[in-house]
Amino acid sequence: MKTRNALILTCTLMVATATSASAPVSAAPGPETPAGNSAGPGVGFDAVVPAPVSAVPTPGVRYRITHKTALYSDAPEVGTQFATRLRRSTGYPIPIVGKPPRDGISLRLTGGVPGGDEAYRLEVTARGIEVRANRPAGLFNGVQTLRQLLPYAADSDTVRPGPWTVPGGRITDSPRYPYRAAMLDVARHFFPVAAVKRYIDQIAFYKINHLHLHLSDDQGWRIAIDSWPRLATYGGSTAVGGDPGGHFTKADYREIVAYAGARNITIVPEIDLPGHTNAALASYAELNCDGVAPPLYTGIEVGFSSLCTSKEITYTFVDQVLGEIAALTPGPYLHIGGDEAKSTEPADYRAFMARAQASVAGHGKTVVGWHEIVQAETPPTAVAQYWGTTQNDDAVANAGRKVIMSPASRSYLDMKYNPQTRLGLTWAGLIEVKDAYDWDPGAYLTGLPAEQVLGVEAPLWSETLRTSDDIEFMAFPRLPAIAELGWSPYRTHDWDAFKRRLAAQGPRWKTMGVDYYRSTQIPWPAGS
Ligand code: ACM
Repeated sequence: MKTRNALILTCTLMVATATSASAPVSAAPGPETPAGNSAGPGVGFDAVVPAPVSAVPTPGVRYRITHKTALYSDAPEVGTQFATRLRRSTGYPIPIVGKPPRDGISLRLTGGVPGGDEAYRLEVTARGIEVRANRPAGLFNGVQTLRQLLPYAADSDTVRPGPWTVPGGRITDSPRYPYRAAMLDVARHFFPVAAVKRYIDQIAFYKINHLHLHLSDDQGWRIAIDSWPRLATYGGSTAVGGDPGGHFTKADYREIVAYAGARNITIVPEIDLPGHTNAALASYAELNCDGVAPPLYTGIEVGFSSLCTSKEITYTFVDQVLGEIAALTPGPYLHIGGDEAKSTEPADYRAFMARAQASVAGHGKTVVGWHEIVQAETPPTAVAQYWGTTQNDDAVANAGRKVIMSPASRSYLDMKYNPQTRLGLTWAGLIEVKDAYDWDPGAYLTGLPAEQVLGVEAPLWSETLRTSDDIEFMAFPRLPAIAELGWSPYRTHDWDAFKRRLAAQGPRWKTMGVDYYRSTQIPWPAGS
């Protein structure tokens, strides 16, 4: 049995030297860039994460952003975001102009770019920079790549000296998978809107396009539900270790959805059912089979709670909660958990999940569930999220359903990097950067047809995490590894190349103030 017990206590010891075993390998060379094509060490067509489909530098050519550079965009939001960022770091006016400038940056919806809505083409010549795409999502992705072709300082929040040189060349790019996600557990510890937005900015930089929010668990209910108000006000009042609770109002949630949407990220809300429900059971006695509400829970055991599957009120509750969440959520998916329902009899689980899934469909959404949902009958459109620790699960492989790959021993960002890591748990193993990177989502689960893989997701559970710094230290540098598995063609998969490209991200994170784990596996440039 997998439990998330024990090692949490070590986080209170706060070993301040968690990164001391990973001093920068200053003697290691940075990524090589062809002569005349580099805007500085680690900046160039061979330093982009995730690796593009095709990147061809033009030796000797470069474009320089100056006080004269203007920006045109067919997608106003994408253009404004990029211009704002450039103004902050360069101090230049970067005016947004009404037609593609002779000297400047053009973001254009021209159509005809192979690879779908998220595909883009980027061309840098001595005269300017052009990104072309079919949809705003593609322009957004092209801009994220362009940010990595700029000097590190371009992502500074304060004015830096420059020069602002972009190496010449052409990139053609599109994703391997349509679903590339991160998950944030706001239930074990609550993270306010500002922290969620901060994480959205960080994951969007790596072309992650879904954020799964784990909104309820035994330790906390984190979203206001009008028909069951005590869920948030009481069920959300605490957290693991008795830490402060909190919840999102509906306005908060809408703000997150909008902020994410402007960054090509769809929110996937999760209400975990029928287990992981102590916060709900504590809030409403009538949801318990014995009619007695249990106390709030602040530990980190799993599998002890279950909604009462034999009571009709349970199904009213589920339908009303899912209805309110569906009404707040423009994206297609509603995640209903279904994991670790160890306190629900198997027959009851199957009957309950059938009704919960009917509720999701009734509210016009597509079901996502942790992979245990294949034990119940699922509609053909249901998506199973595989979180196992082995490569063998026939029930999932043969279910005939789309699968999101989140193998815990590879993609769980809350696992420690090494035994000394001051945060995180170990039940799925230690996960160094190479472990997170060196697997193929398309061939990982034995017997699962490659075309059934919808994509990848990196979950981050928060039993031991309290702050944005904590989130960042566990997510970076592993999140970019998972992002690359989701985006890049598998023919680009190469650990030695990846670790050099990843090394080039270190100075960017330092510039952005992103805390990260200085893995000794990565040849970080000196000073990053
Ligand atoms: C899970 O880690 N229980 C999905």
